[in-house]
Amino acid sequence: MAKLDQNTFSIFKEKIDLYVFLQTIYEKVLPAFQNKKMKLMIDCPKNLWINLDPVRFEQVIINLLDNSLKYSKEMTTTLVRVNKEKDEIEITIKDQGIGIPQEDLPYIFDRLYRVEKSRSRATGGFGLGLAIVKQIVEAHGGEISVESQVGHGTCFIINLKQ
Ligand SMILES: Nc1ncnc2c1ncn2[C@@H]1O[C@H](COP(=O)(O)OP(=O)(O)O)[C@@H](O)[C@H]1O
Ligand SMILES: [Mg+2]
Repeated sequence: MAKLDQNTFSIFKEKIDLYVFLQTIYEKVLPAFQNKKMKLMIDCPKNLWINLDPVRFEQVIINLLDNSLKYSKEMTTTLVRVNKEKDEIEITIKDQGIGIPQEDLPYIFDRLYRVEKSRSRATGGFGLGLAIVKQIVEAHGGEISVESQVGHGTCFIINLKQ
């Protein structure tokens, strides 16, 4: 945290097999999804190599999956999907959760921003996750955006250069 605060944290990129990388994260978080009777699916082409910092980027995916888990009900599915077009890689994390009101969407990447305090107290978080996610994605030269519909779900879209 302290390092991220200074805006000077380092990114150490390595050549990563994205399929293997996501599979490893899947195995780590699966018990939490199973405990909540939620389904987690990964759809990624095999042998997709990309330059990224595996430690930082694991934090990105885990933060987004943690949100899906916190803000979804039982019997819903979260899908992580990877698409490649030329040298552009798109990673989407899509859930069937409670969604985010349109008026909150512009602020959710701000530090300490949380949609309605009541939601927050029950789920316990500090509103830092998405600020860190955005900072890491942008430090990789990538972009992150969000689409959401209250009562239907939320989709985070990460675009990266291979
Ligand atoms: N997948 C999601 N579904 C519904 N709401 C979400 C989702 N991800 C984030 N949010 C909303 O955006 C806010 C900010 O997210 P985040 O920065 O991760 O903070 P935290 O999880 O600590 O509350 C959350 O408080 C929540 O209201
Ligand atoms: Mg969070």
